[in-house]
Amino acid sequence: MQREKWDNRTAFILASIGSAVGLGNVWRFPYVCYQNGGGAFLIPYFVALFTAGIPILILEFSLGSKFGKGAPGALSLAGRGKEWLGWFAVLVAFAVVCYYSVIIAWSLSYTGYSVNLAWGKDTESFFWNSYLCVSDGPFQLGGLRLHIVVTLIITWIAIIACIWKGPKTVGKVVWVTVLLPWVLLIAFVIRGITLPGAMEGLSYYLTPQFSALKNPNVWLAAYGQVFFSLSIGFGIMMAYASYLPPKSDIANNALIIALADAGTAFLAGFAVFSTLGYYTYTEGIPIDKIISSSIPLAFITFPTIINEFPIFRQLFGVLFFLMLFFLGIDSAFSLVEAFSCGIIDKWRVRRTPLLLSIGLIGLGIGLLFATNAGILWLDIVDYFMCNWGLVFVGVLECLLLSYAYDLKKLESYVNQSSDISLGNWWNFMIKILAPLVLLVLFGTEIYRRTYSSYGGYPRVAESLGGYGLLAFFLLLSIIFMKKRARVFA
Ligand code: PHE
Repeated sequence: MQREKWDNRTAFILASIGSAVGLGNVWRFPYVCYQNGGGAFLIPYFVALFTAGIPILILEFSLGSKFGKGAPGALSLAGRGKEWLGWFAVLVAFAVVCYYSVIIAWSLSYTGYSVNLAWGKDTESFFWNSYLCVSDGPFQLGGLRLHIVVTLIITWIAIIACIWKGPKTVGKVVWVTVLLPWVLLIAFVIRGITLPGAMEGLSYYLTPQFSALKNPNVWLAAYGQVFFSLSIGFGIMMAYASYLPPKSDIANNALIIALADAGTAFLAGFAVFSTLGYYTYTEGIPIDKIISSSIPLAFITFPTIINEFPIFRQLFGVLFFLMLFFLGIDSAFSLVEAFSCGIIDKWRVRRTPLLLSIGLIGLGIGLLFATNAGILWLDIVDYFMCNWGLVFVGVLECLLLSYAYDLKKLESYVNQSSDISLGNWWNFMIKILAPLVLLVLFGTEIYRRTYSSYGGYPRVAESLGGYGLLAFFLLLSIIFMKKRARVFA
């Protein structure tokens, strides 16, 4: 059977950018940058991009493209006994999409709420008490929040529709899901920087504190952000590269994708901080009192600021949450594609029933995150998947391919058709530097986790749950590997 292919190079590049550019660019990067030295953070960020982000992206692209299979298949063809790592990566991807889709569903709800600014004056209480109606602990599930379930169903329908015919559909959808958020983001930057107080806000974002560069945590933050932001370690980039025609330029594409991702994150910071500066200006509250990252930034701080806008409040609300929706959706379907691609490669199941089943199971699991305890679970699962699962895959990918496979083979494969040629520098990054940094990242996380309290509720139960889930995925990965299929010959 002929493998499906992208229609053209742009489709592949846009799809990969769509996966990389997500909510993290808007609500994580600006905050991390502000916290870790402002403008000076760009130095460790770019160092991390070039020493770990891009080399690993090239590694994943080259594997997917050379073997023409998603993560499990590609790793299996790279040598006996490696297939499980591919399964583990795509299982983590599937776990991530189960909650990531819920955040997209919230964005959809909030798009609707923007029409009449339904959150009212107390945006914080609206989010926690009226919208999520959060319970006191993860084990008090309460009931399903029906309005979340409705938008979650719509989100899953969108996710499955976008990957319905694989690269053929994805290649078309990404023209909208990548370009539209860019247009909206630029509009928000322009709106932001023309508001009074904007410059003040931007100075918080960008004033370089070079002394921060002496702090190793700043460097770790940079590596962590790069790794998460490029969507590596989930098998996504292997799946996407497996649909490339032979002789595609890999190193150059990786560079374009990584720079587009970094550029978007940097730009998003302008939108976020200029708008925060405006709020500080109108309300007289210092920025460090209102700045936050991730969920509170989008669902509490932004609605608050939208309330303060002089004109077109509703319109800005709608556009802002639509932007989040589009930013998220192409990351979400890339996660599903990573998983389904692995299954189709191995068992040659038909795409339609598989996608429908994945959609239903994903939706079903997602219901947990649509209960009163939803956000508490979301926090826990996110922590384990992104801090442990992802780094684990990253380290092993580098090490297994360096020491139990010949990196030179991948190097010469890439060099056949790329403008930029790989050499010893690439080998060094993959063999030594990237895994080393990731291991340190891992070590500090264990330390942090052991010596600091996390959340307000007992850590034992949720930790056991988190590690348990990862252990379960590991077991499942091995079972999947052992299941015989003739396809990975
Ligand atoms: N790269 C995405 C972001 O920056 C996060 C993500 C990672 C999404 C992996 C999907 C898969 O938001």
